[in-house]
Parts: sequence; C-alpha cells; structure tokens
Amino acid sequence: PAGLLADRLGRPLHDLRISITDRCNFRCTYCMPKDVFDAHYEFLRHADLLRFEEIDRLARVFVQLGVRKLRITGGEPLLRKGVEDLVAMLAAIRTPEGDPVELTMTTNASILARKARALKAAGLNRITVSLDALDDRVFRRMNDVDFPVRTVLDGIAEAQAAGLAPVKVNMVVQRGVNDDQLLPMIEHFRGSGVVLRFIEFMDVGNTNGWRMDQVVPSAELIQRIAASHPLHPLDPTAPGETAERWLLDDGSLEIGAISSVTRAFCRDCNRARLSMEGKLYLCLFATHGHDLRALLRGDPQAGLKPVVDDADLRAALAQVWSRRDDRYSELRGTEAAAALRAERKVEMSYIGG
Ligand code: GTP
Ligand code: 5AD
Ligand code: SF4
Ligand code: SF4
Repeated sequence: PAGLLADRLGRPLHDLRISITDRCNFRCTYCMPKDVFDAHYEFLRHADLLRFEEIDRLARVFVQLGVRKLRITGGEPLLRKGVEDLVAMLAAIRTPEGDPVELTMTTNASILARKARALKAAGLNRITVSLDALDDRVFRRMNDVDFPVRTVLDGIAEAQAAGLAPVKVNMVVQRGVNDDQLLPMIEHFRGSGVVLRFIEFMDVGNTNGWRMDQVVPSAELIQRIAASHPLHPLDPTAPGETAERWLLDDGSLEIGAISSVTRAFCRDCNRARLSMEGKLYLCLFATHGHDLRALLRGDPQAGLKPVVDDADLRAALAQVWSRRDDRYSELRGTEAAAALRAERKVEMSYIGG
C-alpha cells in the first residue's frame, strides 16, 4: 500500500522527476558547456525515447507506490513535440484515494510565452523557470547562445497570467559570474508573486567545470541579502523539500535557498528520477540507472519479456526503491563520493536536476 514504501535509509518515495528530452536550445556554461555539447555530441534518437504512453504508465504505477508530485524536466522539456499532450495525460492521474497529484515543470522559458496557456489548459499546476541574471549581458553570457532576458521575463509574465501559480524562479549562483545579480533579482521580483530561489552551484555530471570557490554558500548569501533586505525564515511546507524558505520582512518576496553543497538535504530525499530513455536514477549524482524501458518493452537479447501486468511492474519498482541508499551530497567530501566521481555521474542535461 502507498505510504509504507521506504528505502534503506527509511525515506519514502514522494516526487518523480521525469526528463523528457536530453536536448536544449541553451548552452548554460555550468550545464551544457559548448565544447562538450557541440555539433558532434550524440543526443538520443527518437526511437530510444519513452513514448508518452510509456511515461504515463510508469507515472501511474509510481503514484500507486506513493508518488504525489510529478515534475517534467529536460534538457528543455518544452522542446519535446506534443508536450501538452503528455501534460494532459499526467494531469488525469489519480491517487488510490482519487485525488490528483501535483504536476509541475522546470523550464528555461525560452518558448514559454506561447505555451503557457496551453500548458495550464492541459492541467499543469505550476511552473519553475531557470533564470540566472537580470542583466541582459550577463544572461546572454551564461546561456551562451546569446538569448535575451526579455523573452524569459515575458514567459514568466505569461505563465502568471495563465494562472500557473506560484511561478518559481531558479537562479544558480556562481561567484564572480552572476553573484552581482542577487539584489537586482530581488528588486525585480519583489511584489510580483514569484518565489525566487538561489541554488548553490553543484558538481553535477562530469563536464561542468565545478569548483568549490565558485559556490556561494547559502549562509553567506542570506547574510548578504539581509544587509539591505531584512528577512526571516519560514517553516518548511513539506518534508524533504529542496529549499529552505525565507520571507522579506515586508512580505514582498519569498526567497528559497537550495544548499546541496553546504547543507546537504539527503536525509529526507524522496525524489526519484526517470530519464527520457526510461532509466530510473535514485540520486541526482548517480552513476547508473535502472532500465525500466527493458521492463516495458522487453529485451530479447537479455531474454526479458515485457512486463504486461502493472502489479508486476509495481513490485519491481518497489524493490528498486527499497534497496536505495544514495546520499551523494552528504558524502561529497569522502572517498565514497570520489569513487562515484571516478565512475562518471549522470549529466545534468540528461537527468534534469
Ligand atoms: P519545488 O517542487 O518547487 O520545491 O521544486 P524542486 O526544488 O523540487 O525542483 P527544481 O527543479 O526547481 O530544482 C531546484 C534545484 O534543486 C535544481 O538545481 C535541482 O537540480 C536541485 N535539486 C532538486 N532535487 C534535488 C535533489 O534531490 N538533490 C540535489 N542535490 N539537488 C536537487
Ligand atoms: N548546479 C545547480 N543547479 C543547476 N542547474 C543546472 N545545473 C546546475 C548546477 N550545476 C539548475 C537549472 C535548473 C534546475 C533544474 O537545475 O538552472 O533551474
Ligand atoms: Fe538548458 Fe537548463 Fe541546462 Fe541551461 S540549465 S543548458 S536551460 S537544461
Ligand atoms: Fe537526494 Fe542524491 Fe540530492 Fe542527496 S544528493 S538530496 S540523495 S538526489
């Protein structure tokens, strides 16, 4: 029954993050550096991607196992053809008690302005937009494809107008790159209803050139903000959430601090990640995924027949979760983490954060 499933560290399963494409029209330097993700880079072929029906079936089984939040990610999820149809399928899912589950998406908002209404109509509840700078020059430099900030801001406005509330804005903070944008971002979003979240630059994948000296610890960040904008902490809204929440004392802006580097939150991590080709990853920093596509489609070479009965699929997924003991961020400084790095971790653009 839902709710009783726990991994080896006693953690329930609550969020499923579904990455639907490994492609993106941005080349954020900390995620898809141009020299790696260039014309020679081999993205997945369409036939390797899970079809929407397959994603829907897996999501339904995950909801039977206790998942209550579905998040569509990428790459850039809005680039996948027919994404609104997938949203509609996932929005129709009900828990065993008959309730809908929370359905959201993380996007770069490059084409959000023209998609927001259709996404809302299809049943998306809310949306999170990645935006690393307000200054157009800084933003263009960070997305590295000369994309203007204006278009992203228009996307945010359209999402708000469409009722995708609250819109959250994610800013990855890199010292010396965009940390001068903290206060401009705060000033811009005050009073707008947007929730602004600052993310510590993380050592995801193997190619993003991560350096500890580029991480602005959340404690420092909050201090810097407090110097001009007094603020106070808010209680968590849900166990295991990524962000610690703060509110400006005048109530004009909720701020989140996501501190995977300096304050690991693995203890309550209840998130599973499904890749576009159907691999299940139990941690953002995992080296290997569990091949669920082989369960869905069968794999003649491995002598595997398709799993046709959802109850069998459920049992298989429950077993995978019950064996989970991942906690990379807590281990980051240890030899166990170094061993994982030597094996090569999954890339951000593949697993969607
Ligand atoms: P909400 O539902 O709005 O709370 O979103 P979320 O924070 O769960 O997801 P989002 O896609 O907005 O991610 C925000 C940042 O947190 C991104 O940089 C993610 O890569 C990071 N993140 C999300 N989940 C995890 C996690 O389990 N571990 C770590 N280390 N980082 C995570
Ligand atoms: N560290 C922290 N956050 C990252 N993101 C992408 N790469 C990194 C990184 N190295 C963020 C994106 C997006 C979210 C899903 O993850 O900006 O908002
Ligand atoms: Fe694309 Fe998001 Fe990665 Fe930037 S962070 S390259 S927008 S997937
Ligand atoms: Fe969860 Fe892994 Fe992130 Fe820890 S590092 S919070 S286990 S995804």
